[in-house]
Amino acid sequence: MDRIRIVGGNRLNGTIPISGAKNAALPLMIAAILTDETLTLHNVPRLSDVRSLAQILNNFGIDVTVAGKRAGQGEGYARTMHLSAAEIVDTTAPYELVAKMRASFWVLGPLLARCGKARVSLPGGCAIGTRPVDLHLMGLEALGAKIELDAGYVVASAPDGLTGATIRFPKVSVGATHNVLMAAARAKGTTVIENAAREPEVGDVARCLVAMGAEIDGIDTDTLVIRGADRLTGTEHAVLPDRIETGTYAMAVAMTGGEVLLEGARGDLLQAALDVLEEAGAEVTSTNNGLKVARNGAALHPVDVATAPFPDFPTDLQAQLMALMTRADGVSTITETIFENRFMHVQELARLGADIALDGDTATVTGVDKLIGAPVMATDLRASVSLIIAALAAEGETMVQRVYHLDRGFERIEEKLGNCGAAIERISA
Ligand code: EPZ
Repeated sequence: MDRIRIVGGNRLNGTIPISGAKNAALPLMIAAILTDETLTLHNVPRLSDVRSLAQILNNFGIDVTVAGKRAGQGEGYARTMHLSAAEIVDTTAPYELVAKMRASFWVLGPLLARCGKARVSLPGGCAIGTRPVDLHLMGLEALGAKIELDAGYVVASAPDGLTGATIRFPKVSVGATHNVLMAAARAKGTTVIENAAREPEVGDVARCLVAMGAEIDGIDTDTLVIRGADRLTGTEHAVLPDRIETGTYAMAVAMTGGEVLLEGARGDLLQAALDVLEEAGAEVTSTNNGLKVARNGAALHPVDVATAPFPDFPTDLQAQLMALMTRADGVSTITETIFENRFMHVQELARLGADIALDGDTATVTGVDKLIGAPVMATDLRASVSLIIAALAAEGETMVQRVYHLDRGFERIEEKLGNCGAAIERISA
């Protein structure tokens, strides 16, 4: 198993290219189920989650091809992916594959809409909380799906197709919004999703569906009105930049000091997080090429932050902010309101010398003068990267084990940070 070795203490200076968003690329790939024509996606990040989903789509009979890089483009340049679901030959998403990656559950709605049936494994719990799927099922049932549970599988059918309905989600769910939005794009009549997730990745998928022929009003708001189409066509769509990768590197720079251009990043996708970074003492400037983040010398100020659905501070940046606040000049509080158990990084950060007290959903972080490198264990994607941020500022060597978690969502992290002066290397086992 690969490990990442970091020797802390270097400032970050240079340019980091921001990849396409994992959490948009995955549902966009799934949207290919909705058409028998080719969907071409540009700016697809090279991540293990993308490869896992491609495998699941392959099992349905979908052709997934990835174009090579063009002359002059560096290794790892964003990729173009063609997905062609001319014929769906299998509508089962098996446990072994769904268990690997939760977003694969989102194939349920599109398969139902296209084929009238689907058998998709329940994803089960995961490291960050119980993560039920009741809202997904509620939404699809409202569109007329018949749903049964059988030996750990959701067995859904809609022999006469899906029909539009008004659905009000009692809680904001990104995944349930994706699932119902994609199904509604091919349902008969009009679907209204109230209290829809407003995360930019939902908007990205909605825009792609419009290019495929669906009519959707209210994109980027909490009320989506979808007039389904009998048939959707292929299109070309570029995945929007990854706001979580952007925020992660911005926090890394705030941690080490220095100045980095986050190339291709869009500030409007993470304004709440950038506001917190500025409050903490980083400078953030929008440029034509992306966002410039800098911190020169001054101490980090503590902050009080609670995670919440977009446009508020994202749960996917909570661990990274906590790593940053371990070095602040005072006491911060960080409250996690989305997932009940997203604090696995606390114990690992403590191994580096952080002072964090947990009480229910709130972590109280008392800044320390220094962190000291140690062996640590990655537990989930965002927790892992928080350890990298802490390690960049720690004295001496930190060895991060189980980096396959990182590879799910961060493209070439050691290269991106290494190019800006970090002492970081991957040790392949
Ligand atoms: C998406 O997960 C993201 N995943 C997560 O990113 C992200 O943390 C999360 O949204 C919140 O922003 C992808 O986009 C692939 P939810 P999702 O449904 O859709 C509860 C990462 O690191 N809920 O918005 O699974 C749920 O338990 C990942 O990239 C129900 O109660 O999250 C949670 O408390 C981790 N019933 C809350 O809603 C349901 O049916 C929000 O979850 C569904 C969800």
